[in-house]
Amino acid sequence: MSDWLITGCSELLTLRGSVPRRGAALSDLGIIRDGAILTRADRIAAVGPRRTIERMRGARRAQKLDLGGRVVLPGFVDSHTHLIFPSSRASEYEQRIAGKTYEQIARAGGGIRVTVEDLRRSSPKTLRDDASARLREFGAHGTTTLEAKSGYGLNWQSELKILDIMQQLHQDQPLDIISTFMGAHAVPPEFRRRPEAYVDVLVKSWIPAIATTGLAEFCDVFCDRGAFTVAQARRILATAQECGLVPRIHAGQLAHTGAAKLAIELRAASADHLEKIDRADVRALALSAVTCTLLPGCEFHLGLSQFAPARALIDEGAIVALATDFNPGTSPTLSMSMILSLACTHLRMTPAEAIAAATINPAYSLRLHDRIGSLEVGKYADLAAFDVAAYREIPYYFGVNLCSFTMKRGAVIHSKT
Ligand code: NIG
Ligand code: FE
Repeated sequence: MSDWLITGCSELLTLRGSVPRRGAALSDLGIIRDGAILTRADRIAAVGPRRTIERMRGARRAQKLDLGGRVVLPGFVDSHTHLIFPSSRASEYEQRIAGKTYEQIARAGGGIRVTVEDLRRSSPKTLRDDASARLREFGAHGTTTLEAKSGYGLNWQSELKILDIMQQLHQDQPLDIISTFMGAHAVPPEFRRRPEAYVDVLVKSWIPAIATTGLAEFCDVFCDRGAFTVAQARRILATAQECGLVPRIHAGQLAHTGAAKLAIELRAASADHLEKIDRADVRALALSAVTCTLLPGCEFHLGLSQFAPARALIDEGAIVALATDFNPGTSPTLSMSMILSLACTHLRMTPAEAIAAATINPAYSLRLHDRIGSLEVGKYADLAAFDVAAYREIPYYFGVNLCSFTMKRGAVIHSKT
Protein backbone atom coordinates (compact mmCIF):
# COMPACT_ATOMS: atom_id res chain seq x y z
CA MET A 1 0.00 0.00 0.00
CA SER A 2 1.37 3.43 -0.94
CA ASP A 3 1.92 6.30 1.42
CA TRP A 4 0.42 9.51 0.04
CA LEU A 5 1.23 13.19 0.19
CA ILE A 6 -2.09 14.86 -0.54
CA THR A 7 -1.93 18.58 -1.38
CA GLY A 8 -4.23 21.04 -3.11
CA CYS A 9 -6.75 21.08 -0.25
CA SER A 10 -8.03 24.67 -0.45
CA GLU A 11 -10.01 24.01 2.73
CA LEU A 12 -9.01 21.04 4.84
CA LEU A 13 -11.75 20.36 7.39
CA THR A 14 -9.95 18.41 10.11
CA LEU A 15 -12.79 18.27 12.68
CA ARG A 16 -10.03 18.01 15.30
CA GLY A 17 -10.97 18.76 18.88
CA SER A 18 -13.41 17.61 21.51
CA VAL A 19 -15.66 14.54 21.05
CA PRO A 20 -18.63 14.43 21.01
CA ARG A 21 -19.55 17.89 19.75
CA ARG A 22 -22.35 19.75 21.52
CA GLY A 23 -23.78 23.26 21.13
CA ALA A 24 -21.43 25.87 19.69
CA ALA A 25 -18.63 23.29 19.36
CA LEU A 26 -20.66 21.56 16.63
CA SER A 27 -19.63 24.40 14.29
CA ASP A 28 -15.93 23.95 14.93
CA LEU A 29 -14.55 22.34 11.79
CA GLY A 30 -10.84 22.95 12.51
CA ILE A 31 -10.19 24.33 9.03
CA ILE A 32 -6.70 24.54 7.55
CA ARG A 33 -6.40 26.61 4.37
CA ASP A 34 -4.04 25.23 1.75
CA GLY A 35 -3.70 22.09 3.83
CA ALA A 36 -1.97 18.79 3.23
CA ILE A 37 -2.12 15.26 4.56
CA LEU A 38 0.57 12.64 4.72
CA THR A 39 -0.59 9.05 5.02
CA ARG A 40 1.35 6.05 6.23
CA ALA A 41 -0.22 2.73 5.20
CA ASP A 42 -3.87 2.99 6.34
CA ARG A 43 -3.37 5.89 8.79
CA ILE A 44 -2.83 9.63 8.85
CA ALA A 45 0.84 10.34 9.62
CA ALA A 46 0.61 14.14 9.49
CA VAL A 47 -1.91 16.84 8.76
CA GLY A 48 -1.37 20.60 8.59
CA PRO A 49 -0.45 23.52 6.33
CA ARG A 50 1.04 22.35 3.01
CA ARG A 51 4.40 24.05 3.56
CA THR A 52 4.91 22.26 6.87
CA ILE A 53 3.79 18.83 5.69
CA GLU A 54 5.79 18.96 2.43
CA ARG A 55 8.96 19.44 4.42
CA MET A 56 8.41 16.37 6.58
CA ARG A 57 10.66 13.34 6.29
CA GLY A 58 8.10 10.87 4.92
CA ALA A 59 6.80 13.40 2.37
CA ARG A 60 9.59 13.05 -0.14
CA ARG A 61 9.17 9.35 -0.81
CA ALA A 62 5.36 9.38 -0.60
CA GLN A 63 3.27 9.20 -3.75
CA LYS A 64 2.09 12.72 -4.65
CA LEU A 65 -1.53 13.64 -5.15
CA ASP A 66 -2.47 17.24 -5.89
CA LEU A 67 -6.22 17.75 -5.56
CA GLY A 68 -5.92 21.11 -7.29
CA GLY A 69 -7.92 23.19 -4.81
CA ARG A 70 -10.74 21.07 -3.42
CA VAL A 71 -12.53 21.00 -0.09
CA VAL A 72 -11.39 17.95 1.88
CA LEU A 73 -13.13 16.47 4.92
CA PRO A 74 -13.25 13.20 6.88
CA GLY A 75 -15.22 10.53 5.01
CA PHE A 76 -18.89 10.66 5.98
CA VAL A 77 -19.97 8.27 8.73
CA ASP A 78 -23.51 7.15 7.92
CA SER A 79 -24.69 5.79 11.26
CA HIS A 80 -28.19 4.59 10.27
CA THR A 81 -28.84 2.45 7.19
CA HIS A 82 -30.90 -0.59 6.26
CA LEU A 83 -28.36 -1.59 3.60
CA ILE A 84 -29.58 -5.09 2.75
CA PHE A 85 -32.94 -5.06 0.99
CA PRO A 86 -34.08 -6.83 -2.17
CA SER A 87 -35.97 -4.22 -4.19
CA SER A 88 -37.57 -0.81 -4.19
CA ARG A 89 -41.08 -0.01 -2.94
CA ALA A 90 -41.72 2.59 -5.60
CA SER A 91 -45.37 1.50 -5.92
CA GLU A 92 -45.92 2.63 -2.29
CA TYR A 93 -44.30 5.93 -3.25
CA GLU A 94 -47.02 6.35 -5.85
CA GLN A 95 -49.72 5.37 -3.33
CA ARG A 96 -48.45 8.07 -0.96
CA ILE A 97 -48.39 10.65 -3.72
CA ALA A 98 -52.05 9.75 -4.28
CA GLY A 99 -52.77 10.49 -0.59
CA LYS A 100 -52.22 7.32 1.50
CA THR A 101 -49.98 7.59 4.55
CA TYR A 102 -47.00 5.37 5.44
CA GLU A 103 -48.99 3.87 8.34
CA GLN A 104 -52.12 3.23 6.25
CA ILE A 105 -50.04 1.36 3.69
CA ALA A 106 -48.37 -0.68 6.46
CA ARG A 107 -51.72 -1.55 8.08
CA ALA A 108 -53.04 -2.72 4.72
CA GLY A 109 -50.24 -5.29 4.52
CA GLY A 110 -47.65 -3.16 2.71
CA GLY A 111 -44.55 -1.58 4.13
CA ILE A 112 -41.78 -3.49 5.89
CA ARG A 113 -43.63 -6.82 5.47
CA VAL A 114 -43.47 -6.61 1.67
CA THR A 115 -39.70 -6.21 1.81
CA VAL A 116 -39.51 -9.09 4.30
CA GLU A 117 -41.38 -11.52 2.02
CA ASP A 118 -39.21 -10.51 -0.89
CA LEU A 119 -35.96 -10.80 1.08
CA ARG A 120 -36.78 -14.25 2.40
CA ARG A 121 -37.07 -15.45 -1.21
CA SER A 122 -33.90 -13.70 -2.39
CA SER A 123 -30.63 -15.57 -2.72
CA PRO A 124 -27.70 -14.43 -0.60
CA LYS A 125 -25.70 -13.89 -3.80
CA THR A 126 -28.23 -11.46 -5.29
CA LEU A 127 -28.58 -9.56 -2.02
CA ARG A 128 -24.84 -9.39 -1.68
CA ASP A 129 -24.20 -8.25 -5.26
CA ASP A 130 -26.86 -5.54 -4.95
CA ALA A 131 -25.39 -4.35 -1.66
CA SER A 132 -21.88 -4.32 -3.17
CA ALA A 133 -23.03 -2.06 -5.98
CA ARG A 134 -24.71 0.23 -3.42
CA LEU A 135 -21.52 0.35 -1.36
CA ARG A 136 -19.55 1.53 -4.39
CA GLU A 137 -22.09 4.35 -4.69
CA PHE A 138 -21.83 5.20 -0.98
CA GLY A 139 -18.06 5.47 -1.50
CA ALA A 140 -18.51 7.61 -4.62
CA HIS A 141 -20.67 9.98 -2.53
CA GLY A 142 -17.98 10.36 0.15
CA THR A 143 -19.15 7.86 2.77
CA THR A 144 -16.36 5.69 4.19
CA THR A 145 -18.07 3.98 7.16
CA LEU A 146 -21.66 2.90 7.57
CA GLU A 147 -23.83 1.22 10.10
CA ALA A 148 -26.22 -1.38 8.67
CA LYS A 149 -29.21 -3.03 10.33
CA SER A 150 -30.78 -6.42 9.81
CA GLY A 151 -34.57 -6.47 10.16
CA TYR A 152 -35.96 -7.44 6.77
CA GLY A 153 -35.60 -11.17 7.53
CA LEU A 154 -37.55 -11.53 10.78
CA ASN A 155 -36.99 -15.26 11.00
CA TRP A 156 -33.82 -16.83 12.32
CA GLN A 157 -32.52 -18.03 8.97
CA SER A 158 -33.10 -14.77 7.11
CA GLU A 159 -31.83 -12.49 9.88
CA LEU A 160 -28.66 -14.59 9.93
CA LYS A 161 -28.50 -14.42 6.11
CA ILE A 162 -28.45 -10.60 6.34
CA LEU A 163 -25.90 -10.43 9.15
CA ASP A 164 -23.64 -12.90 7.30
CA ILE A 165 -23.76 -10.82 4.14
CA MET A 166 -22.87 -7.69 6.12
CA GLN A 167 -19.91 -9.46 7.69
CA GLN A 168 -18.69 -10.72 4.29
CA LEU A 169 -19.06 -7.25 2.80
CA HIS A 170 -17.15 -5.71 5.70
CA GLN A 171 -14.30 -8.11 4.92
CA ASP A 172 -14.37 -8.05 1.10
CA GLN A 173 -14.94 -4.42 0.10
CA PRO A 174 -13.25 -1.24 1.27
CA LEU A 175 -15.93 0.48 3.39
CA ASP A 176 -16.29 -0.40 7.06
CA ILE A 177 -19.69 -1.82 7.93
CA ILE A 178 -20.86 -1.80 11.54
CA SER A 179 -23.65 -4.32 12.12
CA THR A 180 -26.81 -3.89 14.14
CA PHE A 181 -29.30 -6.67 14.88
CA MET A 182 -32.83 -5.39 14.34
CA GLY A 183 -35.07 -8.42 14.72
CA ALA A 184 -37.52 -5.96 16.32
CA HIS A 185 -38.15 -4.01 13.11
CA ALA A 186 -41.71 -5.35 12.74
CA VAL A 187 -43.72 -8.24 14.13
CA PRO A 188 -43.27 -11.00 11.50
CA PRO A 189 -46.34 -12.53 9.82
CA GLU A 190 -45.92 -15.79 11.78
CA PHE A 191 -46.51 -13.86 15.02
CA ARG A 192 -49.08 -11.35 13.80
CA ARG A 193 -51.56 -12.10 16.56
CA ARG A 194 -48.92 -12.91 19.18
CA PRO A 195 -46.42 -10.04 19.36
CA GLU A 196 -45.47 -10.93 22.96
CA ALA A 197 -44.51 -14.43 21.81
CA TYR A 198 -42.19 -12.86 19.21
CA VAL A 199 -40.60 -10.66 21.89
CA ASP A 200 -40.09 -13.85 23.93
CA VAL A 201 -38.26 -15.48 21.02
CA LEU A 202 -36.05 -12.42 20.56
CA VAL A 203 -35.20 -12.19 24.23
CA LYS A 204 -34.85 -15.84 25.10
CA SER A 205 -33.28 -17.18 21.96
CA TRP A 206 -32.17 -14.93 19.10
CA ILE A 207 -30.47 -12.05 20.93
CA PRO A 208 -28.32 -14.29 23.17
CA ALA A 209 -27.42 -16.39 20.10
CA ILE A 210 -26.55 -13.37 17.91
CA ALA A 211 -24.41 -11.95 20.69
CA THR A 212 -22.35 -15.16 20.82
CA THR A 213 -21.79 -15.21 17.05
CA GLY A 214 -20.25 -11.74 17.15
CA LEU A 215 -22.24 -10.87 14.00
CA ALA A 216 -23.58 -7.64 15.50
CA GLU A 217 -22.30 -4.99 17.88
CA PHE A 218 -25.55 -3.09 18.33
CA CYS A 219 -29.23 -3.95 18.76
CA ASP A 220 -32.03 -1.68 17.53
CA VAL A 221 -35.82 -1.63 18.04
CA PHE A 222 -38.50 0.21 16.04
CA CYS A 223 -40.30 1.57 19.10
CA ASP A 224 -43.27 3.46 17.74
CA ARG A 225 -47.01 3.41 17.12
CA GLY A 226 -47.84 0.26 15.17
CA ALA A 227 -44.43 -1.30 15.87
CA PHE A 228 -43.03 -2.23 19.32
CA THR A 229 -44.21 -0.63 22.57
CA VAL A 230 -41.91 1.05 25.08
CA ALA A 231 -42.34 -1.92 27.45
CA GLN A 232 -41.43 -4.39 24.70
CA ALA A 233 -38.48 -2.28 23.57
CA ARG A 234 -37.24 -2.04 27.17
CA ARG A 235 -37.30 -5.82 27.51
CA ILE A 236 -35.55 -6.38 24.18
CA LEU A 237 -32.85 -3.76 24.63
CA ALA A 238 -32.18 -4.57 28.30
CA THR A 239 -31.59 -8.19 27.27
CA ALA A 240 -29.37 -7.09 24.40
CA GLN A 241 -27.34 -5.03 26.82
CA GLU A 242 -26.93 -7.96 29.23
CA CYS A 243 -25.68 -10.00 26.27
CA GLY A 244 -23.12 -7.31 25.35
CA LEU A 245 -24.94 -5.63 22.44
CA VAL A 246 -25.22 -1.84 22.67
CA PRO A 247 -28.76 -0.39 22.27
CA ARG A 248 -29.87 1.99 19.53
CA ILE A 249 -33.52 2.88 19.06
CA HIS A 250 -35.94 4.18 16.40
CA ALA A 251 -37.82 6.73 18.51
CA GLY A 252 -40.59 9.25 17.88
CA GLN A 253 -40.89 8.90 14.11
CA LEU A 254 -44.66 8.36 13.95
CA ALA A 255 -45.88 9.27 17.44
CA HIS A 256 -44.69 10.51 20.82
CA THR A 257 -44.35 7.29 22.80
CA GLY A 258 -41.71 7.71 25.49
CA ALA A 259 -39.11 5.96 23.34
CA ALA A 260 -36.68 8.88 23.65
CA LYS A 261 -36.83 8.67 27.44
CA LEU A 262 -36.25 4.93 27.19
CA ALA A 263 -33.08 5.61 25.18
CA ILE A 264 -31.82 7.77 28.05
CA GLU A 265 -32.85 5.22 30.70
CA LEU A 266 -30.94 2.47 28.86
CA ARG A 267 -27.99 4.73 27.99
CA ALA A 268 -28.48 3.83 24.35
CA ALA A 269 -25.75 4.84 21.92
CA SER A 270 -28.31 6.58 19.74
CA ALA A 271 -31.96 7.62 19.52
CA ASP A 272 -32.96 8.04 15.90
CA HIS A 273 -35.69 10.02 14.04
CA LEU A 274 -37.08 12.11 16.98
CA GLU A 275 -39.59 14.04 14.86
CA LYS A 276 -42.34 13.71 17.48
CA ILE A 277 -40.48 14.49 20.70
CA ASP A 278 -41.50 17.26 23.11
CA ARG A 279 -39.64 19.98 25.07
CA ALA A 280 -39.05 17.70 28.05
CA ASP A 281 -37.51 15.05 25.77
CA VAL A 282 -35.25 17.68 24.19
CA ARG A 283 -34.02 18.80 27.62
CA ALA A 284 -33.49 15.26 28.85
CA LEU A 285 -31.65 14.23 25.68
CA ALA A 286 -29.46 17.33 25.93
CA LEU A 287 -28.32 16.27 29.40
CA SER A 288 -27.59 12.69 28.29
CA ALA A 289 -24.82 10.97 26.35
CA VAL A 290 -27.32 9.58 23.82
CA THR A 291 -26.58 10.71 20.26
CA CYS A 292 -29.68 12.17 18.58
CA THR A 293 -29.50 10.86 15.03
CA LEU A 294 -31.72 12.90 12.73
CA LEU A 295 -32.94 11.46 9.43
CA PRO A 296 -34.47 14.27 7.35
CA GLY A 297 -34.51 12.06 4.23
CA CYS A 298 -37.63 10.40 5.69
CA GLU A 299 -39.73 13.58 5.94
CA PHE A 300 -38.54 14.63 2.51
CA HIS A 301 -39.41 11.31 0.88
CA LEU A 302 -42.70 10.88 2.77
CA GLY A 303 -43.68 14.48 2.02
CA LEU A 304 -44.12 15.40 5.69
CA SER A 305 -43.65 18.85 7.14
CA GLN A 306 -42.80 18.06 10.76
CA PHE A 307 -39.03 17.65 10.99
CA ALA A 308 -37.09 16.84 14.17
CA PRO A 309 -36.43 19.84 16.46
CA ALA A 310 -32.76 20.02 15.48
CA ARG A 311 -32.30 23.67 16.47
CA ALA A 312 -33.65 23.11 19.99
CA LEU A 313 -31.55 19.95 20.41
CA ILE A 314 -28.35 21.71 19.35
CA ASP A 315 -29.05 24.88 21.31
CA GLU A 316 -29.83 22.88 24.47
CA GLY A 317 -26.55 20.96 24.05
CA ALA A 318 -27.59 17.53 22.74
CA ILE A 319 -25.21 15.39 20.67
CA VAL A 320 -26.68 15.61 17.17
CA ALA A 321 -25.82 13.39 14.20
CA LEU A 322 -27.26 13.04 10.69
CA ALA A 323 -27.73 9.86 8.69
CA THR A 324 -29.42 8.71 5.48
CA ASP A 325 -31.64 5.94 6.95
CA PHE A 326 -31.08 4.35 3.52
CA ASN A 327 -34.08 2.00 3.15
CA PRO A 328 -36.76 1.24 0.53
CA GLY A 329 -39.75 2.45 2.57
CA THR A 330 -38.96 5.90 3.87
CA SER A 331 -35.57 7.10 2.63
CA PRO A 332 -34.17 5.60 -0.55
CA THR A 333 -31.06 7.76 -0.74
CA LEU A 334 -27.45 6.92 -0.02
CA SER A 335 -26.23 10.48 -0.48
CA MET A 336 -25.01 12.13 2.70
CA SER A 337 -24.60 15.44 0.88
CA MET A 338 -28.33 15.36 0.02
CA ILE A 339 -28.97 14.77 3.75
CA LEU A 340 -26.78 17.80 4.52
CA SER A 341 -28.89 19.89 2.12
CA LEU A 342 -32.09 18.76 3.84
CA ALA A 343 -30.56 19.38 7.27
CA CYS A 344 -29.61 22.94 6.35
CA THR A 345 -32.88 23.86 4.66
CA HIS A 346 -35.40 21.98 6.83
CA LEU A 347 -33.63 21.42 10.17
CA ARG A 348 -32.07 24.90 10.02
CA MET A 349 -28.64 23.54 10.79
CA THR A 350 -25.69 25.51 9.45
CA PRO A 351 -23.46 23.84 6.87
CA ALA A 352 -20.71 23.62 9.51
CA GLU A 353 -23.04 21.96 12.03
CA ALA A 354 -24.28 19.54 9.40
CA ILE A 355 -20.75 18.48 8.47
CA ALA A 356 -19.78 17.80 12.10
CA ALA A 357 -23.07 15.91 12.51
CA ALA A 358 -22.13 13.71 9.53
CA THR A 359 -18.57 12.90 10.62
CA ILE A 360 -17.32 13.14 14.22
CA ASN A 361 -20.65 12.80 16.07
CA PRO A 362 -21.84 9.68 14.23
CA ALA A 363 -18.35 8.23 14.75
CA TYR A 364 -18.95 8.78 18.47
CA SER A 365 -22.37 7.12 18.29
CA LEU A 366 -20.72 4.06 16.73
CA ARG A 367 -17.99 4.15 19.40
CA LEU A 368 -15.38 4.59 16.65
CA HIS A 369 -14.30 8.16 17.43
CA ASP A 370 -10.74 7.05 18.23
CA ARG A 371 -10.31 5.80 14.66
CA ILE A 372 -12.58 7.81 12.35
CA GLY A 373 -14.65 11.00 12.11
CA SER A 374 -11.80 13.52 12.04
CA LEU A 375 -8.52 14.00 10.19
CA GLU A 376 -5.97 13.65 12.97
CA VAL A 377 -2.66 11.84 13.32
CA GLY A 378 -3.15 8.13 14.03
CA LYS A 379 -6.69 7.92 12.70
CA TYR A 380 -7.60 6.06 9.50
CA ALA A 381 -6.87 7.92 6.27
CA ASP A 382 -10.61 8.09 5.46
CA LEU A 383 -11.39 11.23 3.52
CA ALA A 384 -13.52 12.75 0.80
CA ALA A 385 -12.80 15.69 -1.54
CA PHE A 386 -15.50 17.89 -3.05
CA ASP A 387 -15.38 20.02 -6.19
CA VAL A 388 -16.55 23.20 -4.50
CA ALA A 389 -15.00 26.56 -3.64
CA ALA A 390 -15.95 26.45 0.05
CA TYR A 391 -17.47 23.86 2.39
CA ARG A 392 -20.84 25.65 2.58
CA GLU A 393 -21.35 24.85 -1.09
CA ILE A 394 -21.58 21.12 -0.29
CA PRO A 395 -25.16 21.41 1.05
CA TYR A 396 -25.90 24.48 -1.09
CA TYR A 397 -25.73 22.56 -4.38
CA PHE A 398 -28.40 19.95 -3.70
CA GLY A 399 -29.17 16.78 -5.58
CA VAL A 400 -25.78 16.59 -7.30
CA ASN A 401 -22.78 14.56 -6.31
CA LEU A 402 -19.79 16.86 -6.10
CA CYS A 403 -17.59 14.30 -4.37
CA SER A 404 -14.71 13.73 -6.77
CA PHE A 405 -12.30 11.72 -4.65
CA THR A 406 -12.65 9.27 -1.76
CA MET A 407 -9.91 7.52 0.19
CA LYS A 408 -10.61 4.68 2.61
CA ARG A 409 -7.89 3.52 4.98
CA GLY A 410 -5.22 4.99 2.71
CA ALA A 411 -6.56 3.42 -0.52
CA VAL A 412 -8.18 5.44 -3.31
CA ILE A 413 -11.70 4.04 -3.80
CA HIS A 414 -13.19 6.78 -5.99
CA SER A 415 -11.49 9.32 -8.19
CA LYS A 416 -12.72 11.66 -10.90
CA THR A 417 -9.34 13.41 -11.07
O1 NIG B 1 -36.16 3.96 9.67
N1 NIG B 1 -39.02 3.14 10.78
C1 NIG B 1 -38.62 2.00 10.60
N2 NIG B 1 -37.72 1.64 9.70
C2 NIG B 1 -37.43 2.38 8.54
C3 NIG B 1 -38.48 2.17 7.52
C4 NIG B 1 -38.40 0.80 7.02
C5 NIG B 1 -39.31 0.49 5.85
O2 NIG B 1 -40.36 1.12 5.69
O3 NIG B 1 -38.93 -0.42 5.11
C6 NIG B 1 -37.12 3.79 8.92
O4 NIG B 1 -37.76 4.76 8.51
FE1 FE C 1 -34.40 3.21 10.10
